[in-house]
Amino acid sequence: MFREGFVWGAGSSAYQIEGGAALDGRGPSIWDTLCRRPGAIHNSETGDVACDHYTRFRDDVDLMQRIGLGAYRFSVAWPRVLPLGIGRINEPGLDFYDQLVDSLLAANITPWVTLYHWDLPQGLFDRGGWLSPEIPAWFAEYTRVVVDRLSDRVTNWITINEPQIFVGLGYREGKHAPGLKLSMKEQLAAAHHVLLAHGRAVQVIRERARSTPSIGWAPVGRADYPAVETPENIEAARISSMSVHEPGFWNNTWFGDPVCLGHYPEDGVRLYGADMPRIERGDMETIFQKLDFYGVNIYSGVGVRRGADGATETVAWPAGVASTTMRWPVAPKSLYWGPRFLHERYQLPIVITENGMANPDWVAGDGRVHDPQRIDYTRAYLLELARAHADRVPVHGYFHWAALDNFEWAEGYKERFGLIHVDFATQKRTMKDSAYWYSEVIRSNGKHLSDASPFAQAAGPQVRRVAQETRQGVRGPVPVPGGRS
Ligand code: FCB
Repeated sequence: MFREGFVWGAGSSAYQIEGGAALDGRGPSIWDTLCRRPGAIHNSETGDVACDHYTRFRDDVDLMQRIGLGAYRFSVAWPRVLPLGIGRINEPGLDFYDQLVDSLLAANITPWVTLYHWDLPQGLFDRGGWLSPEIPAWFAEYTRVVVDRLSDRVTNWITINEPQIFVGLGYREGKHAPGLKLSMKEQLAAAHHVLLAHGRAVQVIRERARSTPSIGWAPVGRADYPAVETPENIEAARISSMSVHEPGFWNNTWFGDPVCLGHYPEDGVRLYGADMPRIERGDMETIFQKLDFYGVNIYSGVGVRRGADGATETVAWPAGVASTTMRWPVAPKSLYWGPRFLHERYQLPIVITENGMANPDWVAGDGRVHDPQRIDYTRAYLLELARAHADRVPVHGYFHWAALDNFEWAEGYKERFGLIHVDFATQKRTMKDSAYWYSEVIRSNGKHLSDASPFAQAAGPQVRRVAQETRQGVRGPVPVPGGRS
C-alpha cells in the first residue's frame, strides 16, 4: 500500500512543547513576547511550561518508541541555541538537542530536524526581524551552529515551517507573533527574506553536513481538489491550486515557485506590481537550491469545479459538514490531490510533514482517551495518500501532527492535536486510542488501513493481541493502561 521504507512519523515544534522557557540560558523569542500581550492568546496562556518536554523528553521518546514511530520531527529553538539570535552560543541549549537526538536514535527513531518553526529570537526582532536584509545571514549562522553540532547523526533537515502562516498571520493579520499588520510591500519584503534565508540554510547544510543530508522544507499546502473527478474539474483544481488568487499568502506558488523553479509566479508579480520586493542580483540563485523532498503540511482543502464561464468555482460545503474543533472541514481528498499537483509542478518526492486534527479529547472514566474522530480522519486521509502512491506520486513519508497535545499558538491549550494526551495541570501523558491504532498502521506499513472496523480494533481485542506480542518481544505498542490488557 505504501512503498518499502515509507517513513511513519509524528511531529512537534519547540515552542509548542518544550517549556523550560527560562532554563539553561534560553533567550526570549517573539512568541514569549506575544504571549504577554493582553488578548493575544486564548486565556492568556503561554509556552512557558507547555508539555515540559525540555525536562521530560526521555519519557516522551519512550512513549514514541512504544507507539512504534519510525521518525520524529521536532524543531530547534533558535533562542535556546543563540540566546540573542547571533553571537554567543548557549552550550546547554545545544546539549539538549544532542541528548534528544541520541535518545531518539537509541529508540530506533530517526530524527527530522526543522530549523525554524516560528520562534524568532526577540533580539533579532529588535534588529528588524524578517524585515531586515541581514536575516538570511543570521539564519545561515544559526544553521551552521546546529549543523556542526548535530549533522554527524541527523541527516533529515527541514529549513522553514509554513512561511505562508508566519508571514501571513504574523506580519499581515497580526494574530501570530510578532503581531504586526504591515503594508503589502513590507509583507512581501519579509517574505523575500524568508526565501533567501531558506536558500542560505540549504547551502550551509550542503557545505557542512558531516553525513549526506536530505533537505526539504515544510510549507502549508493549499489543496484545491475536484469536487467530482471529471477531467474539466481536475484541470480547474490544478489551476486553482497553483494560482496566486488574491493579495496575501494563502497559495502554494508565491513561495514554492522561487524555491523550486527559481522565479516568482507571473500572476503574483502582476498582482503585486509596485509592491514587489526588491530583487538583488543573485537572489533568485540563492533561493533556488536543489531540494531532496518537498515537505508539505495539509489539513484540509476545498472542492472546486469548472464553472459555466470556464472559471474555477468553489463548491460550497454542505450544511453541518464534518469539521474539527479548529472548524477546519474534514477533506481527505486533499491528501491525494495536494501531493499530486505539487509533485507535477515541482517534480520532487513528497513528504507529508504535517496532517492531523484537533478534537475535544479527555481522559474518560475508564482511564483512556477515546478519539474515534481522529482515527477516522487519519484513516480516510491516509487512504487517499495511498491512492496517490498507487497513481505513482512518489510519497516518501507521513508525519502525524502531533505526537503530544501542545500549545496551539493563539488558541493556547484548548486545541488538542496529539496522539498522546497531556494533562497540563499534572503533565500526565495518556496514549489516546488513535496512538494504538496508528501503531498498527505503522507496523503493517499501512495495510491495517483497509481493515473495516478501526474503532473496535483500537479499543478491543486487537490491542490485547498486540500487547501480548509486545510481552513476547515482538515490536508493538504498549499494553493498554488501566490493566485492560
Ligand atoms: C500548523 C503548524 C503547527 C500546528 C498545526 C496545527 O500550521 O505548523 O505548528 O500549529 O498547524
